[in-house]
Amino acid sequence: DWTMGAYREDAIAKIRAQVGDKKVICGLSGGVDSSVAAVLIHEAIGDQLTCVFVDHGLLRQGEAEEVVTMFRDNYNIRLIHADEQELFLGALEGVSDPEVKRKTIGKLFIDVFQKHANTIDGAEFLAQGTLYPDVIESVSFSGGPSVTIKSHHNVGGLPEKMGLKLVEPLRELFKDEVRALGRELGLPEKFIGRHPFPGPGLAIRCPGEITREKLAILRKADAVYIDQIRKHGLYDEIWQAFVAILPVRTVGVMGDGRTYDFACALRAVTSVDGMTADYYPFSHEFLSETATRIINEVEGINRVTYDITSKPPGTIEWE
Ligand code: XMP
Repeated sequence: DWTMGAYREDAIAKIRAQVGDKKVICGLSGGVDSSVAAVLIHEAIGDQLTCVFVDHGLLRQGEAEEVVTMFRDNYNIRLIHADEQELFLGALEGVSDPEVKRKTIGKLFIDVFQKHANTIDGAEFLAQGTLYPDVIESVSFSGGPSVTIKSHHNVGGLPEKMGLKLVEPLRELFKDEVRALGRELGLPEKFIGRHPFPGPGLAIRCPGEITREKLAILRKADAVYIDQIRKHGLYDEIWQAFVAILPVRTVGVMGDGRTYDFACALRAVTSVDGMTADYYPFSHEFLSETATRIINEVEGINRVTYDITSKPPGTIEWE
């Protein structure tokens, strides 16, 4: 793409001019935005960049390994893999209120990020994958007052707190342009086309209390569901798809035995920007096959439901 080739060269020159010979820290989430920002900045300043990847224990199956392999082994980017699972899961023990969950994770995330960033001597800049539309922080309904529906996970305020200047090379771009730039930088298609994943991770797909047992079940069910969606060639038609594990056990029958396991809900929506969304009209064949696979392959789940709520009145995530 000619336009993105030119943008890339221009962005690299700007990053070099801004940063000089100083060091930059970049928080990696595994999402498209921070990934593209990191690779672009690495191309501009090489080892002056260190990425920090916080593993809060709320990632999907294989996700942490994928991020480490991609950035450390593939791109040779300096990467701190902050394994803080125990800390986050410990703090979330007994917490079931969605806003308390979000705030607990958000606050810890900032503490942990800061702790690891402080180990990088003499860093003066913080890189962020901020996009042009990221200025919108709360949802407001036309005709009504502006209402914050969910406290979003972000690291706003962190640069000032740490005395760091910001590097935001994607500030002028929309999502589709970031994807084009990612392709230009050679990021694999599987990374670029990924569905969005929220900062609080699986915590908000596990309504009620979060336990390690539920997280393990959720990861397996989610992996089967996404595998089904990919196998049927539907992944790119869907804005976001995931499983939520419900805080209820239900009675079932398997072979000639009784089961008493968790119920789960499948979610899949189409959307343009995440602000409104329609549930995806899967065929009954797809839904039956997926339910059968999940119940057969995932120990701990004996009932599968499909969430047919659009947004509004639902939100995409369950919390
Ligand atoms: P909701 O659930 O509000 O989600 O309809 C809209 C979109 O935003 C994502 N989401 C988040 N993304 N931090 C994020 O980076 C968050 O705290 C967060 N909460 C929701 C959600 O996955 C969907 O794409």
